[in-house]
Amino acid sequence: MRKALALLAALAVSLGAMAGEITVGFAQLGAESMWRTANTDSIKGEAAKRGIKLIFSDAQQKQENQIKAIQSFIAQGVDVIGLPPVVNSGWEPVLREAQEAGIPVILADRTVDTSDDSLYVSFIGSNFIEEGRSAGKWLVRELKAKYGEARGEVFELVGTVGAAPAIDRKKGFEEVIAQYPGLNIVKSQSGDFTRAKGKEVMEAFIKSPEWEKAKTKIIYGHNDDMVLGAIQALEEAGVNPGQECLIIGVDAIADAFEAIAQGKMHCTVECNPLIGPQFYDMVEGIVAGKEIPKVVYSNEGTYDYYCAAALLPWRRSLY
Ligand code: AHR
Repeated sequence: MRKALALLAALAVSLGAMAGEITVGFAQLGAESMWRTANTDSIKGEAAKRGIKLIFSDAQQKQENQIKAIQSFIAQGVDVIGLPPVVNSGWEPVLREAQEAGIPVILADRTVDTSDDSLYVSFIGSNFIEEGRSAGKWLVRELKAKYGEARGEVFELVGTVGAAPAIDRKKGFEEVIAQYPGLNIVKSQSGDFTRAKGKEVMEAFIKSPEWEKAKTKIIYGHNDDMVLGAIQALEEAGVNPGQECLIIGVDAIADAFEAIAQGKMHCTVECNPLIGPQFYDMVEGIVAGKEIPKVVYSNEGTYDYYCAAALLPWRRSLY
């Protein structure tokens, strides 16, 4: 009975969309980083280009605000909902509400932890475990080239607690460094993906006994914004970030390219925020009744001090 009702509701939504413009509700999680700003611009800009009506909300990094936004999109009868979940658990009840109303949900950028994958149509975004692995592999190569072996002390700036990119970037990175007994994470704390908190966490790391003892200081941040905040903290404490540490971030935002070009940071792993075109291709496909792939990953690279300066103008033109 539940399934039949959901099917009927879905049919009604598709017929409505066929009769006029497509309406999308996008429950953005916040504006915590430069990456997120670029992502929001991509989602808004592409909707305008295609004449899609976008109802956009900003949850300010709070799950309860995202849930309220989804419920309001359901009440308004949008055609499709886009959701980058701030954390990965606790979504099943509201996703079920959307399913029962026959409104398809696309997970855009972050995944959810659920055993029922019928609750969303597709996930579109990055492979965060792979990003963590890329950061670890770059580090191992760099340490071997510099010192002949992969050893050192890692100070880890973790993303938002419980968020898929924080969990997976840690996992992928740890998987790689686990093969090198002399390479260990000695401090690990959340900076919530923001520049301000990244700076605060780094200030605390600098005062710790682990920092005092560390022979090869490595800073691994789950995003560039936290790393840029950490670089500020290092400079204010009289530490030369480029000379005295090895610093790796994730996102590949233009400000990170600039920090690398200035010799303050060493590497950034790309996470593509410009998923607007793929997202609306999928929305239009759903409304047209096409078959939709369950997972669509972005193609991403790694950029370091060999290439960042030359690529900075290109990066600035993107995000
Ligand atoms: O979910 C993607 C992550 O969220 C980006 O790496 C980070 O900058 C953002 O806050």
